[in-house]
Amino acid sequence: MNSPVGTDVVEAARLLSTGGVVAIPTETVYGLAAVARDADAVRRVYTVKGRPLDHPLIVHVASEEAAREWAATWPPVADALAEHFWPGPLTLIVERAEFVPDHVTGGRSTVALRVPDHPMALELLERVADGVAAPSANRFGRVSPTTAEHVLNDLGNDVDYVLDGGSCDIGLESTIVDCSVDPPQILRPGGVATEDIEAVVKTLAPTSGPSRAPGMLPGHYAPDCRVVLREHDGPPVSGPSGRARFLDASVDPSSFARTMYANMRDADRDGVETLVITLPAPRGIGLAIRDRLRKAAAGR
Ligand code: TXA
Ligand code: MG
Repeated sequence: MNSPVGTDVVEAARLLSTGGVVAIPTETVYGLAAVARDADAVRRVYTVKGRPLDHPLIVHVASEEAAREWAATWPPVADALAEHFWPGPLTLIVERAEFVPDHVTGGRSTVALRVPDHPMALELLERVADGVAAPSANRFGRVSPTTAEHVLNDLGNDVDYVLDGGSCDIGLESTIVDCSVDPPQILRPGGVATEDIEAVVKTLAPTSGPSRAPGMLPGHYAPDCRVVLREHDGPPVSGPSGRARFLDASVDPSSFARTMYANMRDADRDGVETLVITLPAPRGIGLAIRDRLRKAAAGR
């Protein structure tokens, strides 16, 4: 038996407000949502995902005004980025307000905040009128879901409701910018291009070295099959072993991103052994695609 699926935003909001766990659509990937202040509901999110408790969650809110309530201070860069990119695929890390519970931040002094750009998600957040914590709605160690069907395949009957908002427009996760440090730093490339962030922020800390966003492990972005990458102007991959499938991210990176995780899931379903993928150029959404594909190729 699967969890109920539907488009009833009022019911989804009611379930959340009464301690439920609901899968919700966003423009990036589906989230596994619970009211952030509700410790029991958030604990269930961790259990359903099978995620370690010290991995912090993104709090989703309906507006910048609502986001500010969760912050101890709202630096000018957060203001500028929110102004430009919210609602949208951007998560801002700021010093947390005093009330923000440890079960959301993993005990950190900072909190991650995002206003998603999806009409159903926004209506839901307005109805709930409180912060909603939501990691991607996949089982821990699997690729993010971008349709309601993916969510059901991963989570079965473990959630109270799956709000079906169709296929995600962007298809990979939000860009995370840490605004609690000076200069700010991109912790995860994502739906907002680095160039577009740079146009607003001017000075960013270099992103080399290990990521400071906890739990960003290669296995999170990897299918079960082997992933082999090639540059579009590089040599072809010679004789991949076993059943191979070929994908090209270089021609139209945005539409590749939209179906990237679905393609990984399909490859596993079809028993593909090697997925050979041509990388996009390292600009725009191409940077985030390359980041996820590198992790996919590093494997589990
Ligand atoms: O697009 C997205 O961001 C999706 C949708 C559902 O909004 N959410 C998502 O959540 O990708 P999740 O939990 O899969 O990834 C959130 C990342 C994690 O790597 C986590 O470590 C990082 O955000 N994060 C959350 N709070 C943080 C904090 N206070 N400091 C540093 N990193 C943080
Ligand atoms: Mg995730």
